[in-house]
Amino acid sequence: MALARRLLDHHQAGTTDMAPDIMRQTMDAYLDEERWAHEVDKIFRHLPLPMALSLELPEPGDYRAITKVGVPVLIVRGKDRKVRAFINACSHRGAPVCDDGHGHAPSGRFSCPYHAWTFNAEGSLVGVFGSKTFGDFDRDTAGLTELFCEEHSGFVWVGLTAGETFDMDEWLGGFAERLQSLDLENWHLYEQREIPGPGWKVTWDGYLEGYHQAAVHPETVGKNTIANLMTHDTYGPHQRFVFGRKSLGELADIPEAEWNPDDHIRLIHSGFPNFSLSGILGGFCLISQVYPGPNPNQTTTIQTVLTAKKPETLEEIAAADEFSEIGRVAIVDEDYALGFQIQEGLAAGGNEYFMFGRNEPTIQHYHNMVAKYSAD
Ligand code: FES
Ligand SMILES: [Fe+2]
Repeated sequence: MALARRLLDHHQAGTTDMAPDIMRQTMDAYLDEERWAHEVDKIFRHLPLPMALSLELPEPGDYRAITKVGVPVLIVRGKDRKVRAFINACSHRGAPVCDDGHGHAPSGRFSCPYHAWTFNAEGSLVGVFGSKTFGDFDRDTAGLTELFCEEHSGFVWVGLTAGETFDMDEWLGGFAERLQSLDLENWHLYEQREIPGPGWKVTWDGYLEGYHQAAVHPETVGKNTIANLMTHDTYGPHQRFVFGRKSLGELADIPEAEWNPDDHIRLIHSGFPNFSLSGILGGFCLISQVYPGPNPNQTTTIQTVLTAKKPETLEEIAAADEFSEIGRVAIVDEDYALGFQIQEGLAAGGNEYFMFGRNEPTIQHYHNMVAKYSAD
């Protein structure tokens, strides 16, 4: 209600939540390879990342293996229902103990494809093929290397550097409550895809503002959204911003007691450093996780479509497909098509700096947080 009120007030006044000033960001933030490597290391390898949704691993033995920013990770739910994460590299000679993707390990065990050593869901080495001839060694110290891993607010958070731990309550702060209000554990995973994208910041900037909605997305995600209108709230490094739907103005003629705000607003939860959760239409949710690729010009996005419940009827399936396709087209054909063009021209010297307007407080906040968390 409060958000709808804020948006309606802005809408009527022709304003939006704004930063105090325009911010300028010099191009080395986008182009400098050394700076990029330093920031990626500090931010993606030394902060907790939401590498899976809890609902992707509902049962003991369920796992997800995923390799991002150079770290192969195996996330698995144990018999005790606790989720753990390991570097997916066998203690014998480094082979991944399973391929990337989702799966279920029968009896919670992983058998290395190279020489068939086996590990359980707690990461312990439980079988050595031909052990009589291999020789003696301390098996207790030959388990998989464990990483920080904690389920919190619907996500599985993983720290990509062994030995580092995090206080998730502290890291999420008030953002946790916002995420928990979405009740993510109880949604249904409808579809998931990986999308190649342009560089990290060119890509991510586009997830942070509504200023481009009308120009870039008139037939997809911007179709029902009022461009250049949003509320902006920060929770430490994390952000929530809210757009108004084109029906927002109708609220002016309805007594507040009769408002159904969900019909008129669109919430985006943007977690630092790389995920965006967008409830575009009631009953559907689009989650995007963007990971830097091997160089400053490439990223991979994991795009996940959730439905409030498993679609059963042909009609429900068609509606889910339509939502999923809108999300895919908006990102692949619209945002990233433009992003690749921007990325390609970046080094040509056309820009000395980029400007983030007062109406783009979200991008300003993100770049400030990158500076903060990559500082030595
Ligand atoms: S590398 Fe895994 S068993 Fe040899
Ligand atoms: Fe966009």
